[in-house]
Amino acid sequence: MGFCKDFAWGAATSAYQIEGAAYEDGKGPHIWDVFCCDNGRIACGESGDVACNHYHRFREDVAMMKEMGLKAYRFSLSWARILPDGTGAVNEAGIRFYQELIDALLDAGIEPYITLFHWDYPYALQQRGGWMNPESVEWFGNYARVVAEYFSDRVVNFFTLNEPQCFIGLSYQDGVHAPGVKAPVQDTFLMAHHVLMAHGRAVQMMRKYAKQEIRIGYAPTGSMSYPDSDRPEDIEAARTHLFAIPEQADRWTWNVSFWSDPVLFGTYPEEALERYGHLMPKFTQEEMRLIAQPIDIYGQNIYNGNRIRCGKDGKPEIVPRWQGFPKTALNWPVTPECLYWGPKFLYERYGKPIYITENGLSCHDAVSVDGRVHDPNRIDFLHRYLRCLKQSAEDGVDIRGYFQWSLMDNFEWHSGYAERFGLVFVDYQTQQRIWKDSAYWYRDLIRSNGDMID
Ligand code: BGC
Repeated sequence: MGFCKDFAWGAATSAYQIEGAAYEDGKGPHIWDVFCCDNGRIACGESGDVACNHYHRFREDVAMMKEMGLKAYRFSLSWARILPDGTGAVNEAGIRFYQELIDALLDAGIEPYITLFHWDYPYALQQRGGWMNPESVEWFGNYARVVAEYFSDRVVNFFTLNEPQCFIGLSYQDGVHAPGVKAPVQDTFLMAHHVLMAHGRAVQMMRKYAKQEIRIGYAPTGSMSYPDSDRPEDIEAARTHLFAIPEQADRWTWNVSFWSDPVLFGTYPEEALERYGHLMPKFTQEEMRLIAQPIDIYGQNIYNGNRIRCGKDGKPEIVPRWQGFPKTALNWPVTPECLYWGPKFLYERYGKPIYITENGLSCHDAVSVDGRVHDPNRIDFLHRYLRCLKQSAEDGVDIRGYFQWSLMDNFEWHSGYAERFGLVFVDYQTQQRIWKDSAYWYRDLIRSNGDMID
């Protein structure tokens, strides 16, 4: 018992965070290219122009993944590298890059998992209104068709969107991510509706144009909720809390069910309709059917969660964290229980095979006097989290894979290069890759198919 025999032990990255070559070989600009040119938006004025230079070093990086024993690699395609204007002419050089990357992965025995969109929205389409424009649904569908035509002969696994919560919430609610706009709340609901329809349209188009049977899913995120005790009322409180819709309108994107119920059930959650119906666009049943195209796999990016108990009034209540509660370099709480209860609650509700499409942490990693990078905190974190995930699998949750975020240190959005999330340390001066201790640990863990953890 434990992880299934063909468990997808993987690591994840995204295009803008690692590729570099931002202005090479015919790639079109996207909103992050533009945003990073705007003074003061990104820590230290940094950008993903060079990042890990993976565009030119991908063979070396794939060799590294092979040595680490990765079974799977989740990466995203840069839409504007493939379609410089977002629609229209295809950039052959961009296609070639991804085909070569895929071939290298397959030669190394590593299963590619492609994410179609991880936040780098083509600038040409942004100028036409981006997600506000109802045509954005077809733009994404058309892009998905191109992806199917060029890559589905050798790739089976696809995720449409990475974390819509963030690319609407951080971008248009908080205004800290590209394009850095604080939009009226009605607009954020309209964009969300288009985003969900775009997901459905992409699923349709990929199935229609795929060259073989593919497996397609979605990769949202969410803060998980776990019970304070094993008393049934605390468990129920945690479950309710996990799927609840936030009460503050300017925080509404931070939830699970608004983004997943439509995709899996074809309906918006009742609570969302009651609370925010007056701010949401009018929608038709046909649109809801489009959103709810059948998917095969369900991804979820899980980093942390809240401990929940049943309050005196019978409502879920967050158990406050205490001073000195374990935290990562980014001050995110360390809450391993979220990898037990999160998948469990999600599987109960949605009933799809689950992939943890991202999980990990940033640490204050540095090269030590011995030339190595010692990251005991990351090893401890992974050990604790994966022990919970294993327990979840043993208790009957259909967990098919786990992608560590991230394969290597990379451009952490508006924090620039300040945060190091990688299993592999990147020296940005020289582009040297140095395995952190956790990379060796992860390699051994994969070899044992997770048996190494108790
Ligand atoms: C995103 C990644 C990001 C990571 C760490 C996730 O929300 O998908 O792109 O680097 O978290 O912040």
